[in-house]
Amino acid sequence: MFTNRLPIAKLAGAVVALSAVIAAVMLSINWNGAEDSTAAPKIDDLLNIMIVVSSVIFAIVVVALAYALIAFRAKPGDESDGEPIHGNTRLEIAWTVIPTIIVLFAGGWSWKVLNEIEETNPRHLTVDVFSQQFAWSFAYPGKEYAYSQGVLHVPVNRQIVFKMHSQDVIHSFWVPQWRIKKDNVPGITTTAIVTPTKTGTYQLICTELCGFGHSTMRAKIIVQSESAFEKWVGGLKEKVPTPMMVSVKQDTETNPEPLERVEAE
Ligand code: CUA
Repeated sequence: MFTNRLPIAKLAGAVVALSAVIAAVMLSINWNGAEDSTAAPKIDDLLNIMIVVSSVIFAIVVVALAYALIAFRAKPGDESDGEPIHGNTRLEIAWTVIPTIIVLFAGGWSWKVLNEIEETNPRHLTVDVFSQQFAWSFAYPGKEYAYSQGVLHVPVNRQIVFKMHSQDVIHSFWVPQWRIKKDNVPGITTTAIVTPTKTGTYQLICTELCGFGHSTMRAKIIVQSESAFEKWVGGLKEKVPTPMMVSVKQDTETNPEPLERVEAE
């Protein structure tokens, strides 16, 4: 029988101290690198909140385990069986309700962040993304459907709506500094919404195992001023190849949302 009362104050103190140490160490690490889109700080804040919550849970488990190992260890020569325990309703309710609250909190906060990230700005720019084994190409609004292969240019501080059309298998669009990752699924159009906040050169990485060339499936991204971007798009000579235009049209049929190619004059 547990005749000794648990030293609740001491255990709680140990949990607070241990969570503080774990959280301080984990939060001091720059897990995701530079924050170069409007989404990045929101996602990093969410990660930090989850790190703090996880540190507290981990500390509770470790302190309870350490206390149980020390306080309830068998005396030397004690060969008797343990107490037959038939469950504890209050404890079971607690360990069901508390994790439910934590999961709902995490889900609710994630929902809020995703909503903010995906809120479309009326002044956004639509760029079509084509993925295939093992290359990326891009189409920009304009009268000739300006097209580039292996390199994506976008203006800084303007929201970009990427419409993604896989030509074969599932690929995934990922730019670590933007914190945005989205699958490209054959037959449907998926959308990623990004507002880059810094100019510079980035890498677009395919992050879905898509065949032998998966690890080489990358493209260069150049984030530049709006005027430099317009000039670059204006200089593009290639038009979107027919199979890709077909995939855009097929995708549009399964996705009622119209393609926004209205800037042609
Ligand atoms: Cu495409 Cu991996």
